[in-house]
This record gives sequence, C-alpha cells and structure tokens, in this order.
Amino acid sequence: MKFESRVFLAPMADVTDAAFRILCSNYGAGLTYTEMISSTALANSGKNKLFDVQECEKPIAVQLMGNNLDHISKAVKRIDDKIDLIDFNMGCPMKKIVNAGCGAALMKNPIFVKKIVNTLVKSTKKPISIKIRSGWDSKSINVLEIAKIAEKEGASMITVHPKTQSQLRDGEANWNLIKEVKDNLSIPVIGNGEVWNVQDIEKMLSETNCDYVMIGRAATKNPYIFKQYNDYLKTGKFGKLTNFEMIRDYLELAEKYQTNFNYVRGHVMYMTKGVEGSAKLRKNISEIRSIEELKKLI
Ligand SMILES: Cc1cc2nc3c(=O)[nH]c(=O)nc-3n(C[C@H](O)[C@H](O)[C@H](O)COP(=O)(O)O)c2cc1C
Repeated sequence: MKFESRVFLAPMADVTDAAFRILCSNYGAGLTYTEMISSTALANSGKNKLFDVQECEKPIAVQLMGNNLDHISKAVKRIDDKIDLIDFNMGCPMKKIVNAGCGAALMKNPIFVKKIVNTLVKSTKKPISIKIRSGWDSKSINVLEIAKIAEKEGASMITVHPKTQSQLRDGEANWNLIKEVKDNLSIPVIGNGEVWNVQDIEKMLSETNCDYVMIGRAATKNPYIFKQYNDYLKTGKFGKLTNFEMIRDYLELAEKYQTNFNYVRGHVMYMTKGVEGSAKLRKNISEIRSIEELKKLI
C-alpha cells in the first residue's frame, strides 16, 4: 500500500471515532484506524456501533481483536469491502482483555498467532497487519519471533509498540526492538510508542529505520501534529493551531457524523489539557450534554 504521509494515527478505544479519524486525515495522517472491535461481536451481529467507517475515509484500517478463528474469519468477510487494511490486536494489556486470552496474551502463544494470521490472510484479499508489544514481560521478550511468524504467514505490515504487557502504558518504550524487527523483516514496520512531537517522529524514523510512525496519545492532545510533520518535511518549518481551532474543526465533524457525545466530550477534555483556566472549563464541560451547548461554551 502507498500512503501520503509516513505518520499514522493509532487505534484507540473510546478515542478514534470517525470524526476524530477524519480530523486527523484532514490534518495529514497517512492512515487511521478504528478502535479495536471484537471479531466475535462483528461475526455475530454484522452491525456494530464501533464499526463507524465512512465512505470518505481512504485509506482506513479496521482493528479487530479476539481469539476465535471462526469468528475472526466471519468478521473479516463482513467488513472487508468497506476498508483498506485489517489490523489485528495482539498488544492490548488490559486485564479484562488478556484474562479472556486476547490482546497481548496472544503473544504467549506463537503457534496460535500463526493460526490467527493464517486465518486472516485466507479470509480476505485485503492486506493484513498485526499490532504487537515487546512480549508479555521483561523475561519473555519475543517480539521478533512473533513478527517473523506474521511475515511468514502473509502479513503485509507490522506495528511494534515496544513495551511489555506488564508495563501497561508506563515506562520506557524500547525503540531498539523496533529496529531489531525492521532489520530482520522485509515487510514494512510501523514504530509506535512515546512519540510526542515532530522531533520525536524524526528521531524514531532515523534511530529505528522504521517505515512509518504511529502516534497515539500525542494526537489526542494535538491532532495537528500530522500537518506539522508533513510541513516540516516540505519546508523545514511548521506552524500550530490553537486548542480552540482544533476543537472547532473536530466539533464540525462530530456534528456531521453524529458522534456519540461521550467521545465528543472526551476529545474536548483531551484538547484542552494544559490550556490556562482549563480545569474550570473541563468542570463545566463535564456537565454539558450536547454539541450545541459545547460550541457555545467553547
Ligand atoms: C485511550 C487509549 C486507548 C487505546 N486503545 C487501543 C486499541 O483499541 N487498540 C490498540 O491496538 N491500541 C490501543 N491503544 C494503544 C495505542 O494504540 C498506542 O499503541 C499507545 O498509546 C502507544 O502510543 P503513544 O505512546 O503514541 O501513545 C490505546 C491507547 C490509549 C491511550
């Protein structure tokens, strides 16, 4: 696949709704992902409110999770005509997910990883990618083993978020592991973890030689980061938008795509973090119930 920018928006539960993805695409993200969606839920119902992909979204990836091969195959077949790439979650560290044998727990079972990737590849003609961590804990770093298995089974791309499951979201992201995977694989590698600004994007690309950089938390506060990096590449300089300009752009899209208000409120909270007087503003936002009211307050 070809992408217009080397910087992608990470899949984030309760965050990457259609309006936010489109905002980041408009600002220049090369690829955006839905939040993780249960393949079992998709297989059983076909319709799922988390699968909110819009026709204008090109390119767009859906992220699936689960551990039932039959459900995974059915889920892929239900949605593959509406998306460009299918990503599979093998990195979620949350208790309720790993206790069910999904997300990062899958990395403890390389033979099953092989079966999942094989099932995904056989179920669709669309490209498949997986998103993985370093391993389960510091004593079981197996990111390279899993990456090699995925490549051999036909995955087209791999995202490496180099923290272990036991680190959760904390601690250092070991970018050396991204480099190790990149050095040993032929398919494109997406580096992810602790990228906070344009300098970090540059640094990750040069230190790890990864093909693409995926941004999560930094984009929730500053979705304009994609434009900043693209401008920096072209001109050596980049500007910025105020928090209120980004919120204005997001609210316009949230209205258009009738985004669930909990997501909208969440985004305004993220994008006002660090703004002077924002603690009081955020308290007022927590009492608001509609986009209309939110626009007036902002
Ligand atoms: C609120 C939140 C929700 C997330 N949900 C998902 C998810 O649904 N699927 C996934 O693969 N990763 C998820 N992640 C992890 C991110 O995709 C990313 O790997 C992580 O935040 C590291 O990138 P960063 O340091 O740029 O934030 C989530 C992260 C956050 C902060």
